[in-house]
Amino acid sequence: MFAVSSSGRPIPPGRPTDVLAEAHRVLGDLPERGIGADAALARVTTVLADWGVDLASPFAAAHLQPPPLAVAVAADALASAGNASLDTYDSGPAAIAVERWVVAALARLAGFDADADGVFTPGGTLSNLTALLLARDAAAARLGLDVRSEGVAALPDPVVFCSELAHFSVARACAALGIGEHAVRPVSVDSHRRMRPDTLASMLRAGGTPVAVVATAGTTDFGSVDPLPELAALAREHGAWLHVDAAYGFGAVFSAKLAGLVDGLALADSVTADLHKIGWQPAAASVLLVRSASLFAPLERSVAYLNPEDDRVEGYDGTLGRSLQTTRRPDAVKVAATLLALGREGLGALVDRCHELAGHAAALIAADPAFELVGGVTLTTVVFRYRPADESLADEVNARLRRALLRAGEALIGRTEVDKVTCLKLTLLNPNAREADLVALLALVREAGSTAERLVEGAA
Ligand SMILES: Cc1ncc(COP(=O)(O)O)c(C=O)c1O
Repeated sequence: MFAVSSSGRPIPPGRPTDVLAEAHRVLGDLPERGIGADAALARVTTVLADWGVDLASPFAAAHLQPPPLAVAVAADALASAGNASLDTYDSGPAAIAVERWVVAALARLAGFDADADGVFTPGGTLSNLTALLLARDAAAARLGLDVRSEGVAALPDPVVFCSELAHFSVARACAALGIGEHAVRPVSVDSHRRMRPDTLASMLRAGGTPVAVVATAGTTDFGSVDPLPELAALAREHGAWLHVDAAYGFGAVFSAKLAGLVDGLALADSVTADLHKIGWQPAAASVLLVRSASLFAPLERSVAYLNPEDDRVEGYDGTLGRSLQTTRRPDAVKVAATLLALGREGLGALVDRCHELAGHAAALIAADPAFELVGGVTLTTVVFRYRPADESLADEVNARLRRALLRAGEALIGRTEVDKVTCLKLTLLNPNAREADLVALLALVREAGSTAERLVEGAA
């Protein structure tokens, strides 16, 4: 794993204003005459090393943001040095070939057949947006409409279904695409936090133009995976596009032990897979996979200065017609290097190790009366709460203790809300962390909880 920080802490101590002031002090004013590459790099390195986040620390466990693999970092630097772009053949022939190779490999891992296709995007948010654009235009085409030229108002009463735990980017995509956030129908989840197919079935019968069912394979907090085969059958029955947001959960395909969790991915029309989450890539390494290359048709473009039709007929084409971007950096290069270096088995071992660490953390939390375990482990996250003696103070104590750990620079843990209650979260994506690190991390949380409890009680 690659680390830049030298502070020995997961995050710098102090307040955000301290970091801002220190970073600006080191950078200094914009010079009239440059200070030279060595001095410039030294300054930037100092800022990042002394005031940055250290994801290689075993006490960095807040977000779906892993320490990147050194091989991926090296390949990414190589890709940057080449500065190829993927929009046209002549802006990056090798980069395009590498992306084709990675997309085919990932599509095969998902269970898709040879018709499948895909494209890298700048993140899961953008992969979800692109998928919903394709879904919107496919729904319009089924009604004989062309929203690309007529506008989305032509589409009568569009509706999009997703679980109440779906990532917020689904609603935001609907807003951006003119479908409107009001068109999003959150479907309730069962006791395992998976979308309920029976509820979806009755909601689908309630009317409207069903644009898409968005299943989540790996909810952000709990890692829960919606029942993909059942949802696929319902989407098919109602003529809706099935998108699976597997931004977090896709990485399960690398593990022989966990791959069964995401069975049914290949029943989808499209899948979001983020290798900058489970995949240990520097951001961004998000891929939107589609069941068939023909599904990219709404993005098709022939532009005189990039890919004129006669060039395309001769095979001189890039990936402009698969993406909302024009210039597009070769993010697939680092993924190709990683897949080759580690193979499926090597990545699977990293997934299994993080899953094992999450199971261990959950057991420690469940056995500790200072904590309440809020949900079981599916992938690599553990949701829990610190339990103050006075339950009515729990939300404030949990919020404060996390900020106190941040301010001390001691531990970087996640925060979320479950059933309107403030919770803490460990997102364990550092395969080099040890069981003893988890014991020490939870001791820090317990101690910060007890201090926060005293402060909140004192203020009450
Ligand atoms: C389930 C899910 N989908 C989408 C996203 C968005 O991904 P990104 O941050 O790469 O845009 C996230 C981010 O955590 C996520 O957990």
